[in-house]
This record gives sequence, structure tokens and C-alpha cells, in this order.
Amino acid sequence: MADVTVQSPRRAESVPHTSNGDGPIPSLTGDIRHLVPKLGLRNYWYPAIGAKRVGKRNPVQLTMLGDVVCLFRGTNGEVAAIQDVCPHRGALFSEGTCHWQGTVTCPYHGWVYDEHGKNVAVLGEGPDSGVQGKVGTEAKVYPTRTLKGVVFIWMGEDNPAPIEEDVPEEFFDPDTRIFFNDTIYWKTNWEVGLENSMDAHVNYLHRDHLQAMLGNPTFMPRGASGSKVAFTGNGFKSLTKTPDNPPQDIYPELGWKWPKHRLRKFWSWIFNPFFKATSVPPSPTESERWTTGHRLPGMFRAGVVPVGSLEREPRPRGGGLFGLYTRWTVPVEDWLTRVWYFHSTKPSNSIVSAWYWLLYWTNYRWLTEYNFSQQDMSVMENLRYDWPEKLSGTDAEVVQWRRLVVTKHFGGRNAEFEHRLPVVTDSDGS
Ligand code: FES
Repeated sequence: MADVTVQSPRRAESVPHTSNGDGPIPSLTGDIRHLVPKLGLRNYWYPAIGAKRVGKRNPVQLTMLGDVVCLFRGTNGEVAAIQDVCPHRGALFSEGTCHWQGTVTCPYHGWVYDEHGKNVAVLGEGPDSGVQGKVGTEAKVYPTRTLKGVVFIWMGEDNPAPIEEDVPEEFFDPDTRIFFNDTIYWKTNWEVGLENSMDAHVNYLHRDHLQAMLGNPTFMPRGASGSKVAFTGNGFKSLTKTPDNPPQDIYPELGWKWPKHRLRKFWSWIFNPFFKATSVPPSPTESERWTTGHRLPGMFRAGVVPVGSLEREPRPRGGGLFGLYTRWTVPVEDWLTRVWYFHSTKPSNSIVSAWYWLLYWTNYRWLTEYNFSQQDMSVMENLRYDWPEKLSGTDAEVVQWRRLVVTKHFGGRNAEFEHRLPVVTDSDGS
């Protein structure tokens, strides 16, 4: 068995397994954190695994939203997924073998299953076995789709929604190249991990990540006033403009300055050109539905640029390497989250594409996905999510996001979200 996860293989028993229903939506006022599903929203598409991790011979186990899933190659070579527990007597398919393409054989008595969840043979009993194909021996099938080398799984009980509703548009653009990382885990709940991108923490927590320390003389962009968001149909877009920072903040009554010194200006002029020279233009978004912000079922899109803006500003501001990334927090267990990073770009030819590949693997993957990302995880790991919180003006999106998630959890993915926000839509985004 090739286990690519770090969690226990069983479902988190302590967490009730609920699916998005069509039930009444509770009151959305006050502290509603206890209503947010600890194992995420059901009936959505989620990224599962890089397709290359699933070979022809050995099945792979993966836990998502508390479900333990077995992945193997289907008859057409694409990755298929079924429940990772044998209907016979509960052995794990992922500990078995794929003797024939399109099947996985349980390691215990040799029941063979195909990608449709059907028991097609029983090797331990032979061709005359009376149980093969018998009604009631089926395994649950998880619909899959592979896009840009990423296997997406429909995590739900209903028929799959069109995948274009849940997966960003660049995955369907043949000219876009996407670099991704499926190896990051945060020891925190998925909702805590996602809320980590809706507030003012970047300016403080990440003040000393390597790129800021070397290449940014004034820390990071920030804003202290209330944040404003618009509803996009599947999430929120920020309407708050990033203010120009003074080089230092002054606290007159306290006699403080922050940052305490401005030593970075002495070396940032050396390193900033390097970061700018190694930046990669992001692929532009075509629709409001997929612009910057937070989207269901659990992603944050940073630095997305609309079509046309690349001509005015060919490099991301501040010397960022990849201007666009999507961070997608996928619940594994109650307090464990797989954090995907997707970076998209549109190289003009194969040489440029190779250059971007080199930049990603030599610079950006470590800078953002480990150096930057682990600073986040270091705080969230021991965070007390049950503590009565005092929200600030920059937490407005956190509140809206929770209301949206609770609405979809109790009312189903098509439940109407009641709000008083401006609505941003286009032909694709309503
Ligand atoms: Fe799987 Fe018996 S438990 S074949």
C-alpha cells in the first residue's frame, strides 16, 4: 500500500458525519462557529491527489472529509476511487493489489472490484463463486476527474454537479500551465486554515518570511479599516483597496514605532531586483466568479488579475514570484487539513515554460509553500477555536464566510444565501 497521508486511516469517529441537506437553516447571527461542519461541506468537488502518485500496480489510500478512499487506475488509465473498506469483511482495498487494470483486489479473500464498485470476481473461491456480482456486495464509488494532472473527487452522495462550478476556470484552459503542491498538511481544522486568509495577519505574522525580510523595505500591505466584500455567487471578492503604507507606524501616546527599525531598506534594494526578475506573470481570470477572494467549498485565490491588466502591469507588485495562487484547504480529519497550492501561468512558448518550471521548483515552492506556509501553521496548530472571540473591523469577511458555509451545510449547495452585500457577477458568475 502506498500511503501518501500522515493521518490515521480510519474515519474520525468523534465527529458526526453529516451531509449537506435540504433542512432548515439556523439563525446566522451571533457566534455560529459551532455550526460550521468540522469535516467540510459535502456535495462539492475537491482536489484529491496528483495523478502521478497513483500507479498501475498498487492502490493508494487517501482520507478526505473523514472518508477513507482507495485510488487505483481505471480501465481507461484515469484514476478511479472507491471506499477503502471491503464490503465482505472490512479489509482495506488499499492494502491489496491491482492484478488487472481497472480493478483492485482485496488482500484478504481476493474479492475483485472494478471502478464502478462492482464485485466482478472472487479469487479465493474461483470462477464458480456464487457471490460475485451479487446485489448488496457493491462498494461506494467516488466520481473522479483529472485536470492538469490533479485528480478531483466528488465528495458527496448526490449526483455530481458540473465540475466547472467548483474548480477554477484556469483548469479548463489548454494554454494555462498549473504548478501544484499536494504535500502540505496543517494540523488544524479546515475552517481555521481558510479563515487564516481573511484577515490582517499577513502584515504581522509573516513580517519575517524570507522574501519580505530580504526584498520588501516596508513589510507587507495592510489596512486597519473595515473590510468590504461583494458576493460572487460562490464566495466573496474583496472590495477593500490596499492602502499605501508609511515606512513606520507611530504610536504617539506610547512612544512606539513599528517596525522598530528600518534596516531592511539598506539591503532590500539589492534583493528586490532578484525577486522581480524571477517573478512569473499569472494567468488572467476571465470571469468575476474566479477573481480574488474566497470560494466554495474552501479556497482562497490570491493576486488574481483580470484580463487586460497584465499589459499595464506585467509583473506582480512587490516582487512576488507567482502573482496568482489558489490555496485550497481540504479537510482530512477534525484537526488535520491538506493544503493545496495551485499556481497558474500562461507561458508563451516551451522555453519560457521550462524557465517558469525551474523558478517554481528552485524558489517559489520553498519560499511560499514552506517558509511562508509554516508560519501560518505554527500559530494555528495550538489555536483555541472554542475561545470566545472578539472580532475587529478587518474580520468582516470571516463573518460572511461562516454564514455562507452554514447556509450551504444545512440547506444544500443550491440553498440561497441571504445577505445584504453587493453582488458581483458576469455571464459565468451568477
Ligand atoms: Fe475483502 Fe474478504 S474482507 S475479500
